[in-house]
Amino acid sequence: MPRAVAVSPGTKTPEPVAAVEVRDLTKRYPGDVRALDGVGFTVPTGTVFGLLGPNGAGKSTTMKILTTLARPDSGTVRIAGLDVVAEPRRVRRVIGCVTQRSGVDPAATGRENLTLQGRLHGMSRAELARRVDELVELLDVGAVAERVAGGYSGGTKRKLDIAMSLIHRPRVLFLDEPTTGLDPEIRSEIWEHIARLARQERLTILLTTHYLEEADRLADRVSILDRGRVVAEGSPGRLKDDLNGDAVVVELVEPGMVGAARRALDGLTLVREVVAEGVAVRARVDDAAVAVPQVLAALTADGVAAASVTVAMPSLHDVYLHYAGRSIRETER
Ligand SMILES: Nc1ncnc2c1ncn2[C@@H]1O[C@H](COP(=O)(O)OP(=O)(O)OP(=O)(O)O)[C@@H](O)[C@H]1O
Ligand SMILES: [Mg+2]
Repeated sequence: MPRAVAVSPGTKTPEPVAAVEVRDLTKRYPGDVRALDGVGFTVPTGTVFGLLGPNGAGKSTTMKILTTLARPDSGTVRIAGLDVVAEPRRVRRVIGCVTQRSGVDPAATGRENLTLQGRLHGMSRAELARRVDELVELLDVGAVAERVAGGYSGGTKRKLDIAMSLIHRPRVLFLDEPTTGLDPEIRSEIWEHIARLARQERLTILLTTHYLEEADRLADRVSILDRGRVVAEGSPGRLKDDLNGDAVVVELVEPGMVGAARRALDGLTLVREVVAEGVAVRARVDDAAVAVPQVLAALTADGVAAASVTVAMPSLHDVYLHYAGRSIRETER
């Protein structure tokens, strides 16, 4: 199988501007579950796109259709100009996928895992050897490349998974929750790798995530899905700017008072979208200067002691809350 360098093999067609084009996608599951109800978005070539949404929003269903693992009931998907339903085999040649479950063989070394993956793609020996070296360096796994992968840390295993998905030089990379379950430190290391890959390999990356800071850091654009529909789309900066007002975070003295604090703030008309965050409650207000005294008075009246009050610009978390109507943390089980 020839290496898929051209996005339209066999022709001189220039690379399409949109690496991923999704239109009006619908998918029902038995029991009248509308997993997707008219989803559409476009991902320009060489950019990172984040798909966000609470449990059951339709993220995995979208990913499955885009990676040819499921068929839509209606709608169209083009990956690098190729229709996923009409040309699934060609689509598979230009995409790489990292699913949540690792595909690493624990009994083989890192290098062997990469080599095996390349053989599955029918790469020539010489080209494969070059690509393995390149990826070992790119993902910084040189120190462990000759050791069996069973002994790798979670972060290293994830890096190997990413390297394996890139062996055949895909143009579009799909990452389903790439850093779930990893330590924050490792998570940001993986983020750096993903950002570098997008730049150096001119990859288009589509990722789903439950970590809003991940989307904020990596994604040029995000789409928030809820109940099978796109409820918001744009760059993280633009989405945050579109939310007028401020975010107010009240840290409480006692963790047990979070429920009471939420109720107290819910009762104020100038406060919106109140959510618990550990020992704090977060809310959005139009004007913090006006709202903060009222917030403190309401808490005092209900016997809730505040340790600190912070006013901040709206975060992607606030955007999410605004459009999806619930906190992403509340959806994590
Ligand atoms: N194979 C299936 N059979 C029946 N219903 C399904 C199937 N797969 C998904 N669903 C339903 O379709 C809807 C969308 O599910 P999907 O897995 O795409 O959501 P998600 O956004 O990936 O959620 P999560 O964050 O929990 O992974 C949900 O209501 C889910 O229960
Ligand atoms: Mg899912």
